[in-house]
Amino acid sequence: MGEFVSVQTDDGVATIRIDRAPVNALNVQMWGECADAARQVATDDDVRAVVLWGGPKVFAAGADIKAMREMSFTDAFAHAGELQEAFRTLAEVPKVVIAAVNGYALGGGCELALTADFRYAADNAKFGQPEIKLGLIPGAGGTQRLARLIGTQAAKEWVYGGEMYDAETCRQLGLVDRIYPADEVYDRAVESARAYAAGPYALRMAKKAIDEGMGLDLASALKLETELFAATFATRDREIGMDAFLAKDRAEFTQR
Ligand code: HXC
Repeated sequence: MGEFVSVQTDDGVATIRIDRAPVNALNVQMWGECADAARQVATDDDVRAVVLWGGPKVFAAGADIKAMREMSFTDAFAHAGELQEAFRTLAEVPKVVIAAVNGYALGGGCELALTADFRYAADNAKFGQPEIKLGLIPGAGGTQRLARLIGTQAAKEWVYGGEMYDAETCRQLGLVDRIYPADEVYDRAVESARAYAAGPYALRMAKKAIDEGMGLDLASALKLETELFAATFATRDREIGMDAFLAKDRAEFTQR
């Protein structure tokens, strides 16, 4: 349990909570705590799905600008690498992760949300990559995960312009998956996570096939799909799923 990043698990769903008043500005300590939280939820068998949440007001307003102001080139190079590594660890959590976004998700905060499989946004949420206004570029996935998700042209508009975009605009771009009233978004994310938590072990293979496959050429990605498809046959849940279908029954998956 970190000072600013905590993990709480309830009925198979872990909430990774970012909490540093007033706007969850991400300092270097939090980057490490995010990586620790990611490793914890990845390895804990009691965790079967994850919600990433910054609380009811702000998801995260990005890296801590006051701390960054004093960084040298070498500091920035080292710390950006640490943040990339933390966010890579989060993105590779082998369970379904939903970011529940209230308020601002800016800069590193937007990049944090991009590590999740899905983004459920409050109707008052605002996303953006404002780094250019500070004389920076995004350093934790904003030129890469963002471009892969919304396309290079939209990503260029975001990164070159540094503007903020509302939840509906983000939904049209494919960055936001669902929009809810602000006081419902976390509960809805937990509800969906609970449904995924009841799913089969194959969800892990599905995530790996899509996420790793996107970084490969088509022939290699299809080979990866074949291997992961075959790997599902080694799971108990594959037998449970097929037996339940044939018995016209409801599958009770074991995540094994
Ligand atoms: C440090 C921040 C901060 C940040 C806000 N604050 N964002 N402190 N780092 N990223 C502080 C403000 O200085 C202020 O402190 C308090 O939080 C409240 O902010 P206000 O601006 O007064 O509130 P409001 O008018 O509601 O505007 C909220 C906001 C705005 C839209 C979030 O603060 C904003 O634009 N913040 C900067 C967002 C940004 O540029 N993010 C990208 C960072 S670079 P005081 O002490 O005055 O009360 C980045 C790079 C990541 O993320 C990659 C690294 C490798």
